[in-house]
Amino acid sequence: MTIANPARGAASGVPATADVAGPAALPGAGAGPTLASPAPGRARQPALRFPAVTEARVHLVVNGTDHIIHCEPRTHLADALREHCGLTATHIGCEHGVCGACTVEVDGMPQRACLQSAQRFEGKAIATLEGMDDDPLNIALRQAFTDNHALQCGYCTPGMLITARDIVRRLPQADEARIREELAGNLCRCTGYRGIVHAIQHVLKTYRPETVHAD
Ligand code: FES
Ligand code: FES
Repeated sequence: MTIANPARGAASGVPATADVAGPAALPGAGAGPTLASPAPGRARQPALRFPAVTEARVHLVVNGTDHIIHCEPRTHLADALREHCGLTATHIGCEHGVCGACTVEVDGMPQRACLQSAQRFEGKAIATLEGMDDDPLNIALRQAFTDNHALQCGYCTPGMLITARDIVRRLPQADEARIREELAGNLCRCTGYRGIVHAIQHVLKTYRPETVHAD
């Protein structure tokens, strides 16, 4: 028989109706389809037959460049960037939105890249560290991180730099307490944060866009 399935539709890529075993043949008849084992003596009913969506075509704009990728629908943005766009500056740590290693800029704001599927970022301007080589503020931050010993293994550093850039642009008056609060979403297992905070403070004090050059 065919049942209506209002939770599925065009947006999910799954038809709003699907063939299922008749409810009379299932335990709990009338309560809808169930995956429970069949009653003793009865044959197992065929599984629900929804067409599997195994590939998505996604159009991402990263650092001003168009990328058309084909990936599993569940592929999150960080994996899409690293594995399909070849942009490996974005790191992946927890994949739970906790560590901040995957932080990228989306429409000018820092955002986790591990929490949503790449499809959700179609039509948005994504920026990764690869696109900031010539960015004066990023150059100033990288130099300050080096000068202040703000990294050891460097795993957290790409996400830290994206967040630091946001702090400098958005909070020019930030004091140490505010910097530490803003950094709360980026975890570093190596440095103890002191060097990172000092680096950001230095850039807040000294950064003048016209004094920094890419070369
Ligand atoms: S990898 Fe995204 S927050 Fe940790
Ligand atoms: S430098 Fe190693 S995690 Fe931050």
